[in-house]
Amino acid sequence: MIDSVLYHYSVQKAGINKHMSKKKKLAKASKVIMTELVLPNDTNTLNNLMGGRLMHWMDIVSAIAAQKHSNRIVVTASVDNVSFSKPIQLGNVVTLTAQVTRSFSSSMEVYIEVTAEDIPGNKKLESNSAFFTFVAVDQSGRPIDVPEVVPETEQEKEHYEGALRRRQLRLVLAKRMEPNDATELKSLFDI
Ligand SMILES: CC(C)(COP(=O)(O)OP(=O)(O)OC[C@H]1O[C@@H](n2cnc3c(N)ncnc32)[C@H](O)[C@@H]1OP(=O)(O)O)[C@@H](O)C(=O)NCCC(=O)NCCS
Repeated sequence: MIDSVLYHYSVQKAGINKHMSKKKKLAKASKVIMTELVLPNDTNTLNNLMGGRLMHWMDIVSAIAAQKHSNRIVVTASVDNVSFSKPIQLGNVVTLTAQVTRSFSSSMEVYIEVTAEDIPGNKKLESNSAFFTFVAVDQSGRPIDVPEVVPETEQEKEHYEGALRRRQLRLVLAKRMEPNDATELKSLFDI
């Protein structure tokens, strides 16, 4: 399977035809799976995994997915709501799966799914999930364009479609977008 395809198109600007190329990569090409064993140094005084440690692992696995998509250095731009519904215990095995859902110019949204397992007890525990946003940067830290994402599966298409709405919500909350310009969000409330 070819992971990336180069698409060429022309842009008419100031009467001059400029030839530009936009690279596209399959969403699944960015998939990263990371497995961790919860050790005493990862836990709080109740022997449960610390939320901060889980966030650290989520940041790493999703940064690697964003790097795979962009082949660039990436920085974390934002972290969407993360909630911890059930404690993950000492000795559990935590599996984190990350994949880029959609890219814009320099930013990429990454979906992370977390599951925990008590292997000796043969029990799979509740999972949680989150969306992180990364920006690809050059050596000076300046944002740089990344390839587009091509979703294939139903879930990839669903995540791709919702990404624009989530991007507008986080940019409005970060005061980087005027609420009036958040057309996708506004359409949610149109009667
Ligand atoms: C993220 C960063 C590179 C953006 O730089 P900037 O000069 O503000 O650049 P721009 O305004 O051109 O934005 C670049 C992209 O970042 C996105 N972005 C910026 N802030 C964002 C936020 N809070 N949430 C989501 N995306 C954000 C923009 O939407 C834009 O995306 P696009 O190119 O796909 O349209 C810069 O703010 C930075 O370096 N932040 C620190 C990153 C870091 O250290 N992370 C670790 C935290 S400890």
